[in-house]
Amino acid sequence: MCTKRGALIIFEGLDRIGKTTQSKLLSNYLSEECGILCERLAFPDRSTQIGSLIDNYLQRKIEFNDHTIHLLFSANRWECMDSMREKLLQGYTLIVDRYAYSGVAFSQAKGLDKKWCQSCDIGLIKPDLVLYFNRGIQSNCLSYTGDERYETKQFQEKVESQFEQFRSSSHQWKDINVINSDNTNMRDKESIQNEIRLYVKESLEKIKSNNIEELWK
Ligand code: TYD
Repeated sequence: MCTKRGALIIFEGLDRIGKTTQSKLLSNYLSEECGILCERLAFPDRSTQIGSLIDNYLQRKIEFNDHTIHLLFSANRWECMDSMREKLLQGYTLIVDRYAYSGVAFSQAKGLDKKWCQSCDIGLIKPDLVLYFNRGIQSNCLSYTGDERYETKQFQEKVESQFEQFRSSSHQWKDINVINSDNTNMRDKESIQNEIRLYVKESLEKIKSNNIEELWK
């Protein structure tokens, strides 16, 4: 095969921090303005059978204990790995809203053991770039009034402190500060998008072979 593989680009961060908006903007930009093969995905992928269980859980329609739901989130990623690998090798860049880092951060915030949480996702496709949307720990710019599980200020703060462990853990991890320097307002969409595009460009240029590495190995 002579097509250069695509990149796996992950968007991570708290709920309602702007990941979906920015990942859609990036996906449109890459495909429409740069002519790059590109697809956007999101985890949980609520369209599968496992994803539907997760969806019902998040909407508080069914209950699972914390370990079980963690395994379902992980299984939901694993069931997509073959098609993601295939797409990458066909040259598609995949833009993914949430990945194993959310899996670990949200479950650890409930008190589960880090090693156990991480072990379920060892061997997933390793991202080429992780864009972590960071609000600065003291900011009050995000409000949580959603009905889904986890959408409370208190829980999000716990998750945020768990995400901290991944920052600077690898050169693929880049912080995107979404709050203005005066710490009172969100940065404008365009300036965040421009910063993201620079990191993505750098990351695409670094791909020299079709080799796909495994996460946390
Ligand atoms: P998401 O669908 O991104 O939320 P929304 O579309 O409503 O912004 O994720 C749903 C919730 O699931 C979110 O609170 C994060 C949580 N989550 C986990 O707890 N573990 C995981 O592995 C993933 C991917 C998400």
